[in-house]
Amino acid sequence: MQHMGSKLNLKTNEIHLWFAFPDEIRDPNLLSEYKKLLTPEEGKKQQRFYFEKHRHQYLVTRALVRTTLSRYTGIPVSDLRFDRNKYGRPELVVVPKDFPIRFNLSHTDGLIACAVVLNQDIGVDVEDMTRREISLETADRFFSKTEVRDLHQVLESKKRDRFFEYWTLKESYIKARGMGLSLPLEQFSFHLSENESLRISFDPRLSDDPDRWRFWLLKPTGRHKAAVAICGENRGAYELTIRKAVPLSAAEDFPCAIVKHSDI
Ligand SMILES: CC(C)(COP(=O)(O)OP(=O)(O)OC[C@H]1O[C@@H](n2cnc3c(N)ncnc32)[C@H](O)[C@@H]1OP(=O)(O)O)[C@@H](O)C(=O)NCCC(=O)NCCS
Repeated sequence: MQHMGSKLNLKTNEIHLWFAFPDEIRDPNLLSEYKKLLTPEEGKKQQRFYFEKHRHQYLVTRALVRTTLSRYTGIPVSDLRFDRNKYGRPELVVVPKDFPIRFNLSHTDGLIACAVVLNQDIGVDVEDMTRREISLETADRFFSKTEVRDLHQVLESKKRDRFFEYWTLKESYIKARGMGLSLPLEQFSFHLSENESLRISFDPRLSDDPDRWRFWLLKPTGRHKAAVAICGENRGAYELTIRKAVPLSAAEDFPCAIVKHSDI
């Protein structure tokens, strides 16, 4: 078994968010170790990406998720098996009974995230704010009426930030639900105040309960936004720990600004 780093622990009220920065991971020896972690199917999929940056992002993502989950579960990397639900969400096929770990992944130019928690639905989204042109037409298409209204009245200089705040939060929710875009995006709304708090509300048609949810909105770098969503019966406080990893090599705490979060 390859050396994956020391065993990691996770308590019921903890969420661990791991970031990897693919542009900083260029050591050819390390990359060839990552290739050995891919299954034959993953190796083929990696080769099918047209651009090198996407092949690289895919490789680092697989290395991050496999080494991270191996460190928490004690299952050797090559024994980890994944399955996807009908909407594409990957899950571990077998998890230790006494350690029911769940995870979610997100990747964008320059940033990969893997969020883990015990026994609860979790969603994470990261976006590179320089990658997409924002427009009010896009907002009309993806956001709820309240969100669009808010976006219209936000200062021009703050529009891009606000747009990606809604975007990542909405993605984090649909990813935690595991149903992707089959969930109607206009049937739930985020409410972002000028201070640090945020909340979600649901159209009755979605029949979900805001009290089940906690969200964090983060600014990992000047150009990236990230959001984490967690749905738990554990209604108490959660502790979010953010770390940066170079799979098979290094891990350290990552000082990341939490822009907003749900009230406890
Ligand atoms: C697929 C989707 C779940 C996320 O897509 P995305 O934001 O483009 O991509 P991300 O990098 O954040 O997430 C992709 C990862 O999420 C995971 N994922 C895939 N389907 C998922 C699902 N139904 N639920 C949760 N996670 C899912 C996978 O791990 C996937 O990475 P992998 O294929 O390398 O394993 C879905 O939300 C989508 O198609 N979004 C398109 C973007 C959009 O229009 N968003 C509206 C914004 S409000």
